[in-house]
Amino acid sequence: LRKNQPIHALSEQNGNTTWIVTQYEDVLKLLKQPSFIKDQSKLFSNAQSDDDPMEAKIFQNMMLDADPPDHRRLRKLVQPHFNPKTIKQLEPRIQDIADELIFQMSEKREDIDLINDFAFPLPIIVISELLGVPIEDRDKFRQWSNTIVSAADGEEGDFTRDIGEFIDYLKELFAERERNPQEDLISNLLQTRDEGDLLNDEELYSMIVLLIIAGHETTVNLIGNGMLALFEHPDQLNLLKEDLSLTEQAIEESLRYYSPVDFSTARWAEDDLELHDQTIKRGDLVLGSISSANRDDKQFHHAEVFDIQRKPNPHIAFGYGIHFCLGAPLARLEAKIAFKSLLTAFPNISLNQMSKPEWRQVFLLRGLNQLKV
Ligand code: HEM
Repeated sequence: LRKNQPIHALSEQNGNTTWIVTQYEDVLKLLKQPSFIKDQSKLFSNAQSDDDPMEAKIFQNMMLDADPPDHRRLRKLVQPHFNPKTIKQLEPRIQDIADELIFQMSEKREDIDLINDFAFPLPIIVISELLGVPIEDRDKFRQWSNTIVSAADGEEGDFTRDIGEFIDYLKELFAERERNPQEDLISNLLQTRDEGDLLNDEELYSMIVLLIIAGHETTVNLIGNGMLALFEHPDQLNLLKEDLSLTEQAIEESLRYYSPVDFSTARWAEDDLELHDQTIKRGDLVLGSISSANRDDKQFHHAEVFDIQRKPNPHIAFGYGIHFCLGAPLARLEAKIAFKSLLTAFPNISLNQMSKPEWRQVFLLRGLNQLKV
C-alpha cells in the first residue's frame, strides 16, 4: 500500500469514507495538521447529550479525542505527573518491581512466557501505583481494557456489561478515595474536580479510563516486541549485551521497527482536500498507519533493517504534535529498566524454539499474546 496506494479507502458509511494513509510524510501531516480535527461533534450535530449514559460519555471526554482549548485544559491537569523529571523519581521503585518479577521467573521450573511473567505485570503495577488503583484487581482491569481495545475492532462482545462494571468499580474507588485521600493521581484529580470548574465528572472518568488503558496496552508491547526484535537479530542482541549503554537507542529502534501502536486514533477532515489524486471529503475519517510510516524508505535508510545504532531515528511511534504521548517518558524508563534487567539477569536468554511467538489480532495495536523464552 505504501508504494502503490498511499491513500487507501478502507470502508464507506453514510456517504463518508474511512481512509488510511501509510507514507511517513502524510502520517506526520495528519498528526499535526489543523485541517484534521479530533472532535467529530464539531462537524456533525451528534454533540453529546446530557442524556447519554456514562458508558458513552467516557469515550467522548478523553483528551486524546479533544481539540484545543479543552485538550490543553485536560492535558495540563496531568502533565506534571508525567514530566521526565517526575517520572525519573520512580526509577528505584520500577527497578524493585522488575527485580521481583525476575526473581519469580528465576524460581520457575516450567517455561517462561516473557509477556505474562514480565512485560505485562511490570507496567500494570507501575500505573496502578501511580493512579492509586488496587493491584489485586489487575485481572479485572485486564479484561475491561481488552474489551475496549477489541471494541475498536468492531467486536461488540460484552462491551456494555464490561464498561458498566468498569464505571461502577471506579465510582466505588472514587468514593473511597474521597473519604481517605492518598498520595496518588486519583485523589489529586478528585480534589481538582471538587475545587473548581477545571474537570467535570465525565472528564474525570474519561481521564482515568484513558490512563488505565494506555498503561495496560502499550508498554507491554514495547517490551515484548523489542525483545522479539532482538531475538530475531542475534547480532544486534550481542551488540547490546556487550554494551548496555546502547539500551536507549535499542528502545528507540524497537519503537520504530515493531511500533506498539499501529494506527493513530481517529481524525476527521474539516474541509475537502486532495491527497495523491484522491479527494478526502469534509467529515471523512482518516487514520494514519504509524507502523507503516516508521518503515518508510523515503524517511529511513534501509527501513527494513533492525539497527540499534540507527542515527538519526525520527520515528513517530509516540505520535507527534499536541497529542504526542503523555506517557512517553514513563514508557521509555520502564523499557530501559526492563531490557537492562533482563539481559543482566539472563545473559543467555533466547527464544523457546518449540513455541512460536503469537501476535494479538487487534487493529490499533501491535503486540504479542505470548513470547516463550
Ligand atoms: C497518546 C503511543 C505509552 C498515555 C499517544 C499517541 C501515541 C501513543 C501514538 C498519540 C495518538 C494520536 O495522536 O492519535 C504510545 C506508545 C506507548 C505509550 C507506543 C508505549 C510504548 C503510554 C503510557 C501512558 C500513555 C504508559 C500513560 C500512562 C497517553 C495519553 C495520550 C497518548 C494520555 C493522549 C495525549 C493527548 O491527547 O494529548 N500514545 N503510548 N501512553 N498516550 Fe501513549
